[in-house]
Amino acid sequence: MTPTIPELADKYLMHTAKRVPVTFVRGRGCLVYDDTGREYLDLVAGIAVNVLGHAHPEVAAAVASQAHALIHASNLYFTQPQVELAQRLVELSFPARVFFGNSGAEANETAIKIARKWGARNRKGAFQIITSIGSFHGRTMATIAAGGQPKYSDPFKPLPDGFVHVPFNDIEAIKAATNEQTVAVMLEPIMGEIGVIPSAPGYLEGVRRWCDEKGLLMILDEVQTGVGRTGRWFAHQHDGITPDVMTLAKGLGGGVPIGAVLAAPRADVLEPGDHGSTFGGNPLACAAALAVLHVVERDGLVGHAAEMGDLLDGALQDLGGQDVRGRGLMRAVQFAEPRAKPFQQACLEAGVLVNAVDDHTVRFVPPLIISPDQIEHAHSTMQGLPR
Ligand SMILES: Cc1ncc(COP(=O)(O)O)c(C=O)c1O
Repeated sequence: MTPTIPELADKYLMHTAKRVPVTFVRGRGCLVYDDTGREYLDLVAGIAVNVLGHAHPEVAAAVASQAHALIHASNLYFTQPQVELAQRLVELSFPARVFFGNSGAEANETAIKIARKWGARNRKGAFQIITSIGSFHGRTMATIAAGGQPKYSDPFKPLPDGFVHVPFNDIEAIKAATNEQTVAVMLEPIMGEIGVIPSAPGYLEGVRRWCDEKGLLMILDEVQTGVGRTGRWFAHQHDGITPDVMTLAKGLGGGVPIGAVLAAPRADVLEPGDHGSTFGGNPLACAAALAVLHVVERDGLVGHAAEMGDLLDGALQDLGGQDVRGRGLMRAVQFAEPRAKPFQQACLEAGVLVNAVDDHTVRFVPPLIISPDQIEHAHSTMQGLPR
């Protein structure tokens, strides 16, 4: 008998992920199809990646056209899509210069290197970065050390030094942890991976003020919250503040791997030779990202995400959870009982993809193009599931 894809995966892929036993072969918009032809409504979107859904014709055309012209050239040279994308990101956010990598973890590594160099220059070698308990910044050595989840870092000790973890949404804890070795505060505006925990009103503003008062860098990890997901281009725009450094990835390329770091003039310390990436910012990825930003803007998808987010919130209120939280199209339901995994499985069997982040919490991060009808379909499907 021909082995199945899960059987082959078991034999040939490292067992780094507990996968849902379904094999996807194609998608269109918010719908995705498995290898038996079964259709699913996708409320996961590659974990907040496919902002324009699957197989968006303009992204596909931009990638195809760029692939026919120039896929890769190396950062030894200039390419137009990279420069255009940097300009576009700065226009949408704050005055800055941009470095491109290939993932969220790499973007955060870059931010950490910026903080280290900035501290050496401006704060007598200070190097400690204050981060949040429960935060997630990626899977490289520095980013697991930065992240506040020991389950991801403990197996890999010893870890890079210089990260101090404090409770999220507690400005006094940041103040208490600040000393002469502190160089930066690094936060997710909404903690995503741990289960969509939004920053409290006034928290980011308070952190901004504290960073200004003490001469620290404020680094915001917008890898998951960026590119329209929360109903603003970038989540910090809800709070009327500007970070010194912002990292992006996930939604930026609409599924094509790309990461970016924006450093405001005071944090723009990297010089020739300090940092680099073979693939980062290559013309193929940047052409995809330019197409994504163009469509998000032209089709008003940032405002649409805010509106659809309100509808989704209403739908999730009916699921019997003890807490429904989030902003825009980044939401979670937390159940009092350990129902999240059976709920994810029941949704899968009913043709809806959702993401159980732990035993109690289910995350919803659909494409920004989702329609009211699709949210209603998800609503009635989920409500009809056995409790
Ligand atoms: C806030 C945040 N930062 C960083 C990362 C890591 O991104 P990547 O998996 O692209 O390295 C993630 C991924 O889930 C994330 O949610």
